[in-house]
Amino acid sequence: MSTAELRHWARARLRAPADADALLCACAGRGAAAIIAGTPAKLPPHRAARFRKLVARRARGEPLAYLLGEREFWSLPLAVSPDVLIPRCETELLVECALAHAARRSGGRPEILELGTGSGAVALALARELRCRVVATDKDAAALRVAARNRRRHRANMELRRGDWFAAAPPRRFDLIVSNPPYVAPHDRHLREGDLRFEPKSALVAARGGFADIAKIIRGAPRHLRGGGALLLEHGFAQGAKVRAMLAARGFRAITTRRDLAGHERVSGGVWRGKS
Ligand SMILES: C[S@@+](CC[C@H](N)C(=O)[O-])C[C@H]1O[C@@H](n2cnc3c(N)ncnc32)[C@H](O)[C@@H]1O
Repeated sequence: MSTAELRHWARARLRAPADADALLCACAGRGAAAIIAGTPAKLPPHRAARFRKLVARRARGEPLAYLLGEREFWSLPLAVSPDVLIPRCETELLVECALAHAARRSGGRPEILELGTGSGAVALALARELRCRVVATDKDAAALRVAARNRRRHRANMELRRGDWFAAAPPRRFDLIVSNPPYVAPHDRHLREGDLRFEPKSALVAARGGFADIAKIIRGAPRHLRGGGALLLEHGFAQGAKVRAMLAARGFRAITTRRDLAGHERVSGGVWRGKS
């Protein structure tokens, strides 16, 4: 088969024809323009075989990001693997909120802690934007290996630490704590749909209706925040009211929620005024 025929074959099999082009570019080692223009006329047999396998896996629903081994976040190409959550564009709102807080707080470089870093997407974006050091934690060693690859690739000023939420944090206080923790309820039907079927459950699911990890982070944050420091949390679209109530009950002030581009409540946070 010529490259053009292979491309036609794959585009007919996949729900999103653009996925066929992305996989073809990855297997051919050429840019999209060359592929669409029909060069190279033929792929070497091993590359064509790899392409067919990837198309079959994509047709079975495997996420494109895992097949390519890459996903862009905050305009940074990041390595991803099935050990990490695929960074979502909604999570860019968490970065925006963190940047807004950092800008309000002082001209200096804020000390930032990210809990549950996965691929390192959020920590990397913040370290690059603010030219500051970000401490990023995860309980999963394989996820931290992916974050370390991304740290190397982007030469980001990130300290990676392994452990259960605040147990991994260094013994000092931060200006900002950010987290996109697992927040999907264990029996949520979305876990059986789309990319979520292939992503690590430990990155997605939290007990107590999706609130168990959010609750632990809100409980522990005051012991790790400076006065005037903020906690910012991504959460599910229907979780905003409860997260605000939990922040208020723990003593946070200036509690706000921001909506994502789809209009869903997505990131809530509050400022810690006093001593823990
Ligand atoms: C929803 S993913 C977020 C990943 C990444 N920050 C992002 O936004 O793309 C949650 C992350 O929290 C980590 N995690 C889950 N439970 C944890 C715990 N008890 N302590 C630390 N990290 C945890 C998971 O391994 C996963 O990487």
